[in-house]
Amino acid sequence: MQSLISIPKFLIPKQKAGEEPMSFDFSNKIALITGSGRGIGKVTALHLAKLGADIVVNYLRKRSAAEETAREIEALGRQALIVKADISEPEEIDRLFDEIDQQFHGLDILVNNAASGYARPVMEQKVKGWDWTMNVNARAALFTSQRAVPLMQKRGSGAIVNVSSIGSARTLPDYVVIGASKSALEAVTRYCAVEFSRYNIVVNAVSPGIINTDALNYFSLGRDVMVQGAVNRTPAGRIVEPQDVANCIAFLCSPDACMIRGQVIVIDGGYMIAVT
Ligand SMILES: NC(=O)c1ccc[n+]([C@@H]2O[C@H](COP(=O)([O-])OP(=O)(O)OC[C@H]3O[C@@H](n4cnc5c(N)ncnc54)[C@H](OP(=O)(O)O)[C@@H]3O)[C@@H](O)[C@H]2O)c1
Repeated sequence: MQSLISIPKFLIPKQKAGEEPMSFDFSNKIALITGSGRGIGKVTALHLAKLGADIVVNYLRKRSAAEETAREIEALGRQALIVKADISEPEEIDRLFDEIDQQFHGLDILVNNAASGYARPVMEQKVKGWDWTMNVNARAALFTSQRAVPLMQKRGSGAIVNVSSIGSARTLPDYVVIGASKSALEAVTRYCAVEFSRYNIVVNAVSPGIINTDALNYFSLGRDVMVQGAVNRTPAGRIVEPQDVANCIAFLCSPDACMIRGQVIVIDGGYMIAVT
C-alpha cells in the first residue's frame, strides 16, 4: 500500500518493538484478564505475571490456548487459574467471580480485555450482532466491575483497566457495532472511575491502534492490508505491539498512576493525530 505520509528517517525511534521499559512490583497481587488465552490478553497476563502477579486466565472457546498461557505463567513461578466463562452472560460472570473468590479470596487487578463483534458495513448489521457485540464488549465490563468491587475491597484497593479501541471515536471499515460498544465501554469507564474512587479503586481505559492479532482476520480489508496501512501511517514508524498495551496497563495498575482516573489512554504511535 502507498504510504499516505512520509516519515523522515531521523524521526523514527530506535526503540525496539514492544520492549518492556518500566518495572512495577505486583508481588502478592491477583489479576484477572478476560480473554487471556491469546492476543493482547495473553501478553498482558504474562507481563503482569513477570511483575509478580498471580493470574486468572479467562477464555471462551480456545481451551488449549488458555492452557498454554497458564503453563507459561506457572513457568514464571506464579499461580494460574483457568476459568472458561462467556462474559456476555451475567450468570457466567457470577460463576467466574465465585471461582476467583473461592481460590484467591480477593482480587487486585481486573483487565476487561475480551472482545468480539460482527464486522460488516452499517447496511448489513442485524439486531443479533448488535446485542452480542454490546454484551461482550460493553455490558460485561459493567458487571465484571460490579463483581470485582467487593473482592478488591477485601484487599483494600484495586485497579480496573478496560481495553477500548480507536474505533470508539473514529470510523473504521466494518466497525460500526464494535465502535459503538467501545464508546459505551469508555462511558462505563468514566462512571466506574468516579463511583469506585471511594473504594480506593482506580479505573481507566486504554485505546490501542491496529495490532496484528487474529482479530484482524474478520475485516474485509484483509489482515495484511490493515497492518501495512497502519505501519505506513504511524509517525512512530512501526505498528503497535501487544507488549506496548501490556506496558501501559501495568502502569495504570501501579501506584504511579493513582491520580489518573476515568481516562482513555491512546496507544497508537501518533496514528490518530497525524494529518494525512
Ligand atoms: N487487534 C487490534 O487491532 C486491536 C486494536 C484496538 C483494540 N483492540 C482490543 O484489544 C482487545 C484484545 O484484542 P485482540 O486483538 O487480542 O483479540 P483476539 O486475538 O481476537 O482475542 C480475543 C479474546 O477475547 C476472548 N473472548 C471473545 N469473546 C469472549 C467472551 N464472550 N467471553 C470470554 N472471552 C471472550 C477470546 O477467547 P477465546 O480464545 O477462547 O476465543 C480471546 O481470548 C479487545 O478488547 C480488542 O477490541 C484490539
